[in-house]
Amino acid sequence: MDLLLLEKSLIAVFAAVVLATVISKLRGKKLKLPPGPIPIPIFGNWLQVGDDLNHRNLVDYAKKFGDLFLLRMGQRNLVVVSSPNLTKEVLHTQGVEFGSRTRNVVFDIFTGKGQDMVFTVYGEHWRKMRRIMTVPFFTNKVVQRNREGWEFEAASVVEDVKKNPDSATKGIVLRKRLQLMMYNNMFRIMFDRRFESEDDPLFLRLKALNGERSRLAQSFEYNYGDFIPILRPFLRGYLRICQDVKDRRLALLKKYFVDERKQIASSKPTGGEGLKCAIDHIIEAQQKGEINEDNVLYIVENINVAAIETTLWSIEWGIAELVNHPEIQSKLRNEIDTVLGPGVQITEPELHKLPYLQAVIKETLRLRMAIPLLVPHMNLNDAKLAGYDIPAESKILVNAWWLANNPESWKKPEEFRPERYVPFGVGRRSCPGIILALPILGITIGRLVQNFELLPPPGQSKVDTSEKGGQFSLHILNHSTIVMKPRSF
Ligand code: HEM
Repeated sequence: MDLLLLEKSLIAVFAAVVLATVISKLRGKKLKLPPGPIPIPIFGNWLQVGDDLNHRNLVDYAKKFGDLFLLRMGQRNLVVVSSPNLTKEVLHTQGVEFGSRTRNVVFDIFTGKGQDMVFTVYGEHWRKMRRIMTVPFFTNKVVQRNREGWEFEAASVVEDVKKNPDSATKGIVLRKRLQLMMYNNMFRIMFDRRFESEDDPLFLRLKALNGERSRLAQSFEYNYGDFIPILRPFLRGYLRICQDVKDRRLALLKKYFVDERKQIASSKPTGGEGLKCAIDHIIEAQQKGEINEDNVLYIVENINVAAIETTLWSIEWGIAELVNHPEIQSKLRNEIDTVLGPGVQITEPELHKLPYLQAVIKETLRLRMAIPLLVPHMNLNDAKLAGYDIPAESKILVNAWWLANNPESWKKPEEFRPERYVPFGVGRRSCPGIILALPILGITIGRLVQNFELLPPPGQSKVDTSEKGGQFSLHILNHSTIVMKPRSF
């Protein structure tokens, strides 16, 4: 009897060992994962760390777990990088390995599973899209062709503000007018078009759809269904709304902008001479069979988000900082008056003569980074970083904001002191739009400061600069009312 029991026990132990070996073989070899809080089944670290993994919260975790740490968000791996060396490794040295993008369930909808440029994986499609977009968008020629248009748009902001009797007394929400200006700056490049006023019905429709797209994509509301696949059925309603906004938005971009431009182009003689705006180049690439019609629309969609919002938020932050730092504002105004002469309006070719203006802009971008964690990167395959295993398809967040605000590298980083510099990401996936954003910021902020004294509303000594973060965006929480006293020259 005892012998029989022993035999059964041995068989059971043997079977258990065989099973464990098979399972471990199936799971692959043991990984050396980056440090991080201990995950629990199904939820990982999600319940511990919550939804809002903004740049500041991530600094707290980096202090605890190091410059490279891993969070398990349900089924998804999130790797956070917080040092200059590791950043260089991810964006530059291993730029190919980490050069893809993650898309969650919502970004899959808005980008047609990566048929765009910003959210596509690193590879042939991305290379082609970036090449096709470079000539029409990201060269100095584009700046030279459009800068008079941008100067005109900034001048009309100045004019409209002067016409509004509230500006100099109780103040106006300047952002509303600047938003129209930014749409015009980019729609001039794309379609050789502008919107007449803030009430233009097409502008209103477009602005509403773009706003919805950003809100739905940057929200944390859908995290549960993204992190935990078995909960995805509960997300159906949310995803249906996303799909509807996406369909209506692309249909509007197609009908009123892309198709209209196609018609104009077809009624003109063909050839290089006729090419005027970015979309003509993009349509040409479609006609050559390099990209399809959806890709054309997704390029327009990408510019609507990547270019307009980021630059607008940065202008808004810059103005808020200047209102809150009157001494910096008047130092800037003095520079412009001294270099150009009082009342001589700034133009793009003059920007390089205004180092303090450029420093104000760079300091704004350092302290108030519109995309503080960059656009999330991803490794398509298993990778190694600092001796750790990074499982394939991890979402890689580079805390660029911390690199630019770490007291070990910057003196009093929390202060707005226009003497520093911050890049727009580095390497293959870095921002190509910097070439346009910097002159637009220079012209706009410069013109506003040279034509107005910018002040907080009556009874307030400062405007509110609280932040509102999203999945990876950061903008000002409240659009401030600003008093704008015209200067007389
Ligand atoms: C102040 C304004 C802007 C800021 C702060 C900004 C910031 C950024 C950042 C941080 C990235 C991601 C870099 C990375 O993942 O490594 C990015 C990507 C990108 N930006 Fe900008 N950007 C601005 C303006 C613009 C403008 C004006 C355009 C277009 C005209 C633009 C087009 C793009 C595109 C297409 C990408 C994706 C690049 C790729 O994935 O290959 N951006 N931007």
